[in-house]
Amino acid sequence: MIVVNSVQTLRRLIQTHRDMGHRIGFVPTMGNLHAGHLSLVQSAKQQADIVIVSIFVNPTQFGPNEDFDSYPRTFEQDQTLLEQEGADIVFAPELKEVYPNWPNLTKVQVAELGNNHCGASRPGHFDGVTTVVSKLFNMVRPDCAVFGQKDFQQLAIIRRMTSDLNFDIEIIGAPIVREDNGLAMSSRNGYLSKDQKQQASFIYQTLGWMKQQINKGERDYRSLEQAAIQRLAGQNFKPDYVHIARQDNLELAKEGDEQLVILIAAFMDKVRLIDNITLDTK
Ligand code: PAJ
Repeated sequence: MIVVNSVQTLRRLIQTHRDMGHRIGFVPTMGNLHAGHLSLVQSAKQQADIVIVSIFVNPTQFGPNEDFDSYPRTFEQDQTLLEQEGADIVFAPELKEVYPNWPNLTKVQVAELGNNHCGASRPGHFDGVTTVVSKLFNMVRPDCAVFGQKDFQQLAIIRRMTSDLNFDIEIIGAPIVREDNGLAMSSRNGYLSKDQKQQASFIYQTLGWMKQQINKGERDYRSLEQAAIQRLAGQNFKPDYVHIARQDNLELAKEGDEQLVILIAAFMDKVRLIDNITLDTK
C-alpha cells in the first residue's frame, strides 16, 4: 500500500495504472475508519483492480459550531486498517493540496436535494460535500466510487451531481454496517459513552417500529413521524427530524408513493446521529 500526500504524485501513480488498463475504484472518507468504511473498501475491491482511499477532514462541510476541530484524526490506525483490508493507495492530502486557493470561489451545489432533511439543519453542509467530492473526482478520476447508504441524502446528492456534471464515474451505494445492537457505525459514535451507545440503538429500533407500522397499513406518514419524535424524546434524545420520504427525490412521502426511506437525525447530548431504513409499500 502506498501513501500519497500530493495531487501531482497521485495523478502520476494513477496514470501508470490507467495505462495498464486497470479499473480504478475510489472510496472517499474523513478517516477514523471503522467497519462501515472498510466494507466500502471491500465493495470497491470487487468492482475495480486498484482501490484508492482518500482521508481528508474537509473543513467546508462543517458548520461554524460543528466539530471540525475535535473530529477524530487517527491516521496511524487508519493506515493499519487499510493495509489489512488490501487498499492499494491512500491519498491523505493537506488542506492546500485540496484547496490551492483558500477560500475557494467555486462551489458545487445540488439545489433542492440538498435543502431538506440534513441540509435544512446544516446549512451549506452539502455544498461543502459536493465541492470536495468534485475536487477529489477530478484528482483521482476513478472509474467507480463507493459511498455508504448510511448517509442516504449524501449518496442521492452525489449520484445527481455525477450525472448533472457528466462525471464518467459509476456511483455505487453500499449497505449500512451496524453494531450488534443495531446502532449504525459512525466516527461520531466515539463521542458516546458505553451506556449512551446502548441507548443510541433506540434510533434503529424506532426505524424498525416505523417500518412495521407502514407494513401493517399505516399511511398517515406525518402522524407516524410525530409519534416517532415523541418516542425518541421520551428516551433522552433531542430529535432533529424524522421524515418518511420518497427514495428518488427525497420529497416527503404521500400515500401511494412506493419506494420509501425513513430518515432520522437526533441528538444524544451534543452528538448528532443519523440513520435510515428503506422500504417498499408495493
Ligand atoms: P465519512 O463520514 O468518513 O464517510 C465516508 C464514507 O463511509 C461515506 O460514504 C459514508 O456513507 C460511509 N459510511 C460511514 N459509516 C458507514 C456505515 N456504518 N455503513 C456503511 N457506510 C458507512 O461521508 C463522508 O466521510 C464525507 O462527507 C465525504 C464523502 C468523504 C466528503 O468529505
